[in-house]
Amino acid sequence: DIKGFVFDLDGVITDTSVFHSQAWHQVADKVGAPWSKELEDGLKGISRMDSLEMILKAGNLSDQYTEDQKIALATEKNTNYLKLVDQMTPDNILPGIKDFLDDIQSHGYLLSLASASKNAPKVLEKLQLTTYFPKIVDPKTLSKGKPDPEIYLKGAELINLKPEQCIGVEDAGAGVESINAAGETSIGIGDKQILKDADINFEDTGEMTLTNIQKQMA
Ligand code: G6P
Ligand code: MG
Repeated sequence: DIKGFVFDLDGVITDTSVFHSQAWHQVADKVGAPWSKELEDGLKGISRMDSLEMILKAGNLSDQYTEDQKIALATEKNTNYLKLVDQMTPDNILPGIKDFLDDIQSHGYLLSLASASKNAPKVLEKLQLTTYFPKIVDPKTLSKGKPDPEIYLKGAELINLKPEQCIGVEDAGAGVESINAAGETSIGIGDKQILKDADINFEDTGEMTLTNIQKQMA
């Protein structure tokens, strides 16, 4: 029986995935790496330094930058990203999410957050959703990022549930892989092509309701 939900943040609860993309696109242009839809999708769910590495690799530039220069590029990206986050309000919550969180809470499901983002607490604060997520996986404690199962295993552990008692919710291919490898039920939100491995697909967040989930699990 499902007893809890482990949520991704960026692209699931709020559309910060667009802000991340925008800020990484600037970095790609700056270093002269090619930007593509494939790269943009591939970066979703990937940690800050791994994302930078993917962008540099796309331009065959990995060995052109020292560790310090890489950190400086990632820091610059984060500064630009945070400027966008600063302007966020609860209006940036994706359609239906607030109602869905209220609904699952009132049905007694437990909630935790499994975002790779070190900025997750700040984003939740801007959205005024902090109280929904007393349990947040700290990405600093992870030895491997998505698609490794570690982050979703920790998400379940934080709410004292077994993975098979949890549904993980993701917009990223790497995230769905992580959920599946953890042994949780996966919901993929967005492009069914990219998220084809998800147990349940929704075109957008507005379709994610307990009734629709139950229908797809039956
Ligand atoms: C999430 C986003 C990624 C982002 C990562 C790290 O997984 O989907 O786009 O790169 O978090 O975010 P941070 O805010 O720590 O740089
Ligand atoms: Mg995401």
